[in-house]
Amino acid sequence: MEQRKHTGEYALITGATSGFGYEFARLFAADGYNLVLVARSEDRLQQVADEMMSYYGITAIPLAKDLFYSDAAREIYEEVRQRGIHIDVLVNDAGQGEWGHFADIELQRSLDIIQLNITSLVALTRYFMTPMLERGAGKILQVASEAAKAPMPLLSVYAATKAFVLSFSEALTNELEGSGVTVTALLPGAADTDFFHKAHAESTVTYREEELQTPEEVALDGYKALMNGEAKVISGGKTKMHVFMANIMPDEANAGNMRKKMEVSDKKEGRECPAHTASKKERDDINRLTGVMSGDRTEEQYGF
Ligand SMILES: NC(=O)c1ccc[n+]([C@@H]2O[C@H](COP(=O)([O-])OP(=O)(O)OC[C@H]3O[C@@H](n4cnc5c(N)ncnc54)[C@H](OP(=O)(O)O)[C@@H]3O)[C@@H](O)[C@H]2O)c1
Repeated sequence: MEQRKHTGEYALITGATSGFGYEFARLFAADGYNLVLVARSEDRLQQVADEMMSYYGITAIPLAKDLFYSDAAREIYEEVRQRGIHIDVLVNDAGQGEWGHFADIELQRSLDIIQLNITSLVALTRYFMTPMLERGAGKILQVASEAAKAPMPLLSVYAATKAFVLSFSEALTNELEGSGVTVTALLPGAADTDFFHKAHAESTVTYREEELQTPEEVALDGYKALMNGEAKVISGGKTKMHVFMANIMPDEANAGNMRKKMEVSDKKEGRECPAHTASKKERDDINRLTGVMSGDRTEEQYGF
């Protein structure tokens, strides 16, 4: 907590109110970074910003934006620029999925997920990379997933978006060689955050039955790799094994394996909500506002 290696530098983190994003915020703040924190919930963002400022003595700016909207990335860039802030590190963490047969999921929900996981990520990367290249320094962390490595029935659009994120990041790493700017792709396995609830995937074998990674360990792996300028990091032993298997198995077999994990569990007992405090807070907040275990919120429900 007393380390102040990066005093005066700024990290912008999307998805900072819950799960990995919240843990990233803590890691950056502990190293002395000032923060720009992005998510939709203004209240939760303010709480997280206050927490980071009072505990770590840094500056934390909450920026409530909905990355389902195509203009949000530009608005974030403009607001940061108007404040005269240079972003030294960009963490593209915010992401969602939706569980179920593609044909049963409302088309707009799938398109929103593509907007959030791909289009907004690409736009934020482009906006903030340009000044980094001009300065010859900067770091970008792209949160992908082990899902990037295998087709995922019942979470098909989500896994495909993460395949995009991984491919995009690895190509940028090559293009940026020698520029002073690095891009790191983080591949976590299934972890104990609010992700499964937002995706309506809380009844799946993976969520109900499997041991999940903690957001703390995932964020730490990502943070270390980012700081070392590594191109890619797979978080956790089990995830490394999954990725190894996905690399050597035919895609049909990978799809079959993933399908089993995404089926509805027949176990009566099992995990029902995140143990991770910030993610549980996010879930409690959503439930309080919507009255149901809803994945996504409408603008009216969340009072934007
Ligand atoms: N948990 C896993 O098993 C797992 C595994 C591999 C990869 N991942 C990836 O890790 C990343 C973080 O997920 P998580 O597990 O930490 O999930 P989480 O606990 O649900 O956190 C998601 C964060 O993103 C924000 N967010 C969601 N939709 C948004 C939108 N439209 N605009 C702006 N912010 C939005 C949320 O805040 P608001 O709701 O207030 O906007 C929250 O801060 C995602 O990219 C996810 O795909 C997760």
